[in-house]
Amino acid sequence: MAVYTMLKPLLMSMPPETAHRATLNMLRLRLGPRCHFKHDALKSDMFGLHFPNPLGLAAGFDKDAEALSGLFDMGFGFVETGTVTLHPQEGNPRPRLFRDQKNKSVINCMGFPGRGLDAFAARLAAFRRKKPSVRVGANIGVNKGSEDPIADYKTCFSRLAPWASYITVNVSCPNTQGLPDLQMRDDLNRLLTEMDEVHGKTPLLLKVSPDLTHEQREDVVEVVRQQRVEGVLVSNTSHTRPDAVPEKLKEQRGGLSGQLLKDLSTQAIMDYYDMTGGDLKIVGVGGIASVDDAWEKICAGASLVQVYTGLVYQGPRLVRDILAGLVEKLEAEGLSHISDAVGLAHKKDRASKGAVA
Ligand SMILES: Cc1cc2nc3c(=O)[nH]c(=O)nc-3n(C[C@H](O)[C@H](O)[C@H](O)COP(=O)(O)O)c2cc1C
Repeated sequence: MAVYTMLKPLLMSMPPETAHRATLNMLRLRLGPRCHFKHDALKSDMFGLHFPNPLGLAAGFDKDAEALSGLFDMGFGFVETGTVTLHPQEGNPRPRLFRDQKNKSVINCMGFPGRGLDAFAARLAAFRRKKPSVRVGANIGVNKGSEDPIADYKTCFSRLAPWASYITVNVSCPNTQGLPDLQMRDDLNRLLTEMDEVHGKTPLLLKVSPDLTHEQREDVVEVVRQQRVEGVLVSNTSHTRPDAVPEKLKEQRGGLSGQLLKDLSTQAIMDYYDMTGGDLKIVGVGGIASVDDAWEKICAGASLVQVYTGLVYQGPRLVRDILAGLVEKLEAEGLSHISDAVGLAHKKDRASKGAVA
C-alpha cells in the first residue's frame, strides 16, 4: 500500500493546518515520496527558462521556502513558493482553513502568515546555491495594512530577483483587504509601471482572480500588453460559493479552491487565451486533481499547470499520475510534444465551426 494511503486517514482526522504542518515537516526532512518521471515530450522552454515538465506546485503550500528539496523530490517541474510579505506577520486568527471533503475543495482565509522577506530570501538563496538549475518561482504579496503596497512589491521583487527563476506578483488574494483592487486597470497600470523600475531579467508573472468579469479581464490584457509581464497565472482562489458548498461553509469568508473552482478557472483560461490569440503565456491552476483536469487546462490554453488542493485529497502520487497520463494523452492525440496541446480546445472548436460553415 502506498504510504500516503496509510497516512491519509490520520492526516484527515487532524485539523487542516496541523495536517499541513505535519506534511511540511516530513517534506523538510525529505521523508516524502520520490518520483523520477522524465519524458522529452514534456520538456519546454518558456520565459527564457527550461522546464523539465509542465507540472508545478502552486503558491501557498510552502509559504516560507522551507521544504523545497522535499517538494522537488515529488517530481514537480517547478515549485512556486510564498506568498512572502515584506515583514513577518501572523495572518488571520485560526481556524482559517476548512475542508469540504465531499466536493474535494478547501476554503482558506490564511491572510499571508509567514516569517517575512529576510528569512524567506535567506532560505531561497541557500537552496539555490545548492540547486541552481531547478525552477523555483517566488510569489510576492503585501502585509495587512501596508501603507505603500507598491513599495512592498518592489522591495520583495528586488531582493528575490537574484534567486528566483520567476516572480509572481500576487494581486488576487481575496484574504488581504484592498489587494484584489490592484487588478483594476488604472491601479494595475500604475503598479506595473513602477515594477518596471526593478524588473530586470527575472520574469514577472501576474496572478489573477477567477472572479473578474470578461471586461475586467480585457482590461488586464490591455495593461499586460503595454507593460513587461511575461505571463499570467490563472487563477487564484474564488470568493464565490457554488450551490454545492455545504451550508456550514457558505458564510465562511475566504477563497475557494479545489474541484469547485475547476470550471471557473478553466473558463478564465479559455477567455484569456481567446483574447490574446495564445500570445500571452498562461499558467493554469484551479481544481486539478487528475490527468484529465490537467489536460483540460492545457487544451484551454495553459502552457504550464499547477496543483495545490488536488494534492491534499489525492496525495503525492498525483504528480506521477499526471505526468505519465499527459504522455499517454499526447500519444492518443497523435501529438509529439506538450506544446502542441496548448490551446487545442480552441483549435478543435475553430475546425468544427469551419466544417459546419
Ligand atoms: C491553503 C491555501 C493557501 C494558499 N495560499 C496562497 C498564497 O499564499 N499565495 C497564492 O498566490 N495563492 C495561494 N493559494 C492559492 C493556490 O496557489 C491556487 O491558486 C488555488 O488554490 C487554486 O488551485 P487548487 O484548486 O489546485 O488549489 C492558496 C490555496 C490554499 C488552498
